[in-house]
Amino acid sequence: MADFRPVKRLVVLGATGSIGCQTLDIIRSYPDRFEVAGLAGGRNLPLLTKQVREFRPAMVSFEEEAPFDPGPGHTVTLCSMEEMVADPSVDLVMVGTVGKAGLPATLAALRAGKAVALANKEVLVMAGAIVQETARRYGGTLVPVDSEHSAIWQCLVGEPGNPWPAIRRLILTASGGAFRDMDPDLFPTVTPEQALRHPTWQMGRKITVDSATLMNKGFEVIEAHWLFGYGFEQIEVVQHRESILHSMVEFRDGSIKAQLGVPDMRVPLQYALTYPERWPSPAAATDFLKLGSLTFEPVDARRFPCLPLALQAGRSGGTYPAVLSAADEVAVGRFLDGEIRFTDIYDTVAEALDRHSPITMPGLDEILAADATARRFASTRAA
Ligand SMILES: NC(=O)c1ccc[n+]([C@@H]2O[C@H](COP(=O)([O-])OP(=O)(O)OC[C@H]3O[C@@H](n4cnc5c(N)ncnc54)[C@H](OP(=O)(O)O)[C@@H]3O)[C@@H](O)[C@H]2O)c1
Repeated sequence: MADFRPVKRLVVLGATGSIGCQTLDIIRSYPDRFEVAGLAGGRNLPLLTKQVREFRPAMVSFEEEAPFDPGPGHTVTLCSMEEMVADPSVDLVMVGTVGKAGLPATLAALRAGKAVALANKEVLVMAGAIVQETARRYGGTLVPVDSEHSAIWQCLVGEPGNPWPAIRRLILTASGGAFRDMDPDLFPTVTPEQALRHPTWQMGRKITVDSATLMNKGFEVIEAHWLFGYGFEQIEVVQHRESILHSMVEFRDGSIKAQLGVPDMRVPLQYALTYPERWPSPAAATDFLKLGSLTFEPVDARRFPCLPLALQAGRSGGTYPAVLSAADEVAVGRFLDGEIRFTDIYDTVAEALDRHSPITMPGLDEILAADATARRFASTRAA
């Protein structure tokens, strides 16, 4: 009898971005194991059209009001991301949108009981409690995608309990981003081009700038808090320039598990799609003899004030993390557009947090209201 090979039906949100394109690379390598049920992009219609003509999904979503030509012999349903993810045919949703964009669709997918591979970390930063509660109530599953969180997840596979009682610490690694060695006195003058030159990872523009400020690592600590259920005092960050060791878990017997490999997002992305199986991947092998050494250093808070700022917002909870994420999204956009300086990103976010009147245990409406106020402030604050 022929081997039964189940096909997973996927939706990819943010299909035209870095996470989306790499997810489609993996799907392309395993045409007999994956089917694309839906693709969602933002404004890059030429690339989305190309992807739709190749993968022939039944559902398509994009941000523009524009006609869409799926190519000869193929018809598609144009719908919202929320409609697409809730379709009964869908098994797993890859959320590769950026910033606030993925929140409604993530909640819709979880409400429909889907597995949600969540790359779009800002969703957990702004509304982690609501996202987790939605998953719990409707039987949806959150699947880690970020390399650090995938590493922690991989370290926890096989350990008893969830939450895992035997854990002392989660240790996230940080490359240090584009400016880890630059004199901080030069930070006010750095250009978007310089900030976009990440030393180890090729990623979208916002996360690359967030990596240069280390705001990204602050987001990741908040993300780890919600994904794995540990307090902020149990989550630490160390600088690790080589980006080979992706994160570690320390157990209460003193034993530490780490997950290592060359920095290639296709590895954690593929694990999110194939868990609990491991399939061959095109990622390069790790040559330890060529690497020579792996280094670990403390993070310099003077150089990277966005990290302690984000941790403070995370610990304070309530609507603070939503303000953090919203103000950062706007400030990074303004920096990339040449409107404000690199150092204004921190100043903008810090001031938005200072001005905020927090709400503890907020509902979604209160989170969205805090988000909107922070965006208004961040988009008009004078440089
Ligand atoms: N890239 C990585 O290696 C990596 C690693 C770990 C985590 N992440 C996280 O994954 C997320 C995506 O990152 P990325 O690097 O892939 O970003 P990216 O390259 O900028 O891609 C973002 C995607 O989201 C779409 N998009 C933007 N705004 C949208 C909106 N309002 N509605 C619908 N779609 C929208 C974009 O569409 P258009 O381009 O068509 O406008 C694009 O497809 C981020 O949260 C990031 O922190 C990324």
